[in-house]
Amino acid sequence: MLELKAISKTFGNRAVLRSVSLTLNRGQICFVLGRSGVGKSVLLKTIVGLIPQDSGEVWIQSEKTDPQNEEQMVSVRQKCGLVFQMPALLDSLTLQENLEFGLKPEKLARLGKYLDWVQLSRERLSRYPAEVSFGTQKKASVVRTLLREPQFILFDEPTTGLDPVSRQVTNQMIRNVVKESHSGCIVVSHDVQSAIELASTIILLDQGQVIFQGTPESFCSSEQPLARAFCNGMVLLDH
Ligand SMILES: Nc1ncnc2c1ncn2[C@@H]1O[C@H](COP(=O)(O)OP(=O)(O)OP(=O)(O)O)[C@@H](O)[C@H]1O
Ligand SMILES: [Mg+2]
Repeated sequence: MLELKAISKTFGNRAVLRSVSLTLNRGQICFVLGRSGVGKSVLLKTIVGLIPQDSGEVWIQSEKTDPQNEEQMVSVRQKCGLVFQMPALLDSLTLQENLEFGLKPEKLARLGKYLDWVQLSRERLSRYPAEVSFGTQKKASVVRTLLREPQFILFDEPTTGLDPVSRQVTNQMIRNVVKESHSGCIVVSHDVQSAIELASTIILLDQGQVIFQGTPESFCSSEQPLARAFCNGMVLLDH
């Protein structure tokens, strides 16, 4: 289980996260929705210790993390794979070289399986990032994370910047990955429609706080004004 207990983070005089808590079991998908700049990416970075929280606790499989403990954070980053908003690939290496970079050779044995999960064809692997589409770069970036066999996967805006078809492919990929690896996923997003299709739980952040937490069904019928605005936005987009 991955548990955040009352995480708070202030930058200067700006309280970005104010006592944010969530619980995620393996096999579940938790979507975190919220307006731009509300602190969604900061929340993911606190989990893996890239931004240490000011207060609150992160628990991963009954172990409390300490962002100051570098040795422990290396193991945390192995258990919790963060897939960044922009595909984090090295331009001067092919996709294959990117996937192999810094990886123990025995882990590469599983590469074929992960390529299948994300539907990334093997011929693409000899190309450089600049020679493939943004969607393909994103897939390669997910495979890079999967190769480390995380128990929890943190996706930062996986469908942003993708066309509707690639969006569906990405959602199918997240479903596949959760089913096959039985990992737990936190997906940070603006994409309400994907949240409704995929989420076990939806969390809505506003002004640093959790203002809604529940199932997609309860999100759609919520009277909470921002939840309604998010859902109405989706309906408008649909028509
Ligand atoms: N390292 C940092 N130092 C100072 N301020 C930061 C840092 N990282 C993020 N912030 C600030 O924290 C706030 C939340 O940023 P964050 O990137 O989490 O937003 P977000 O919800 O992910 O937005 P978007 O949907 O646009 O990606 C912003 O005001 C941002 O400027
Ligand atoms: Mg962000």
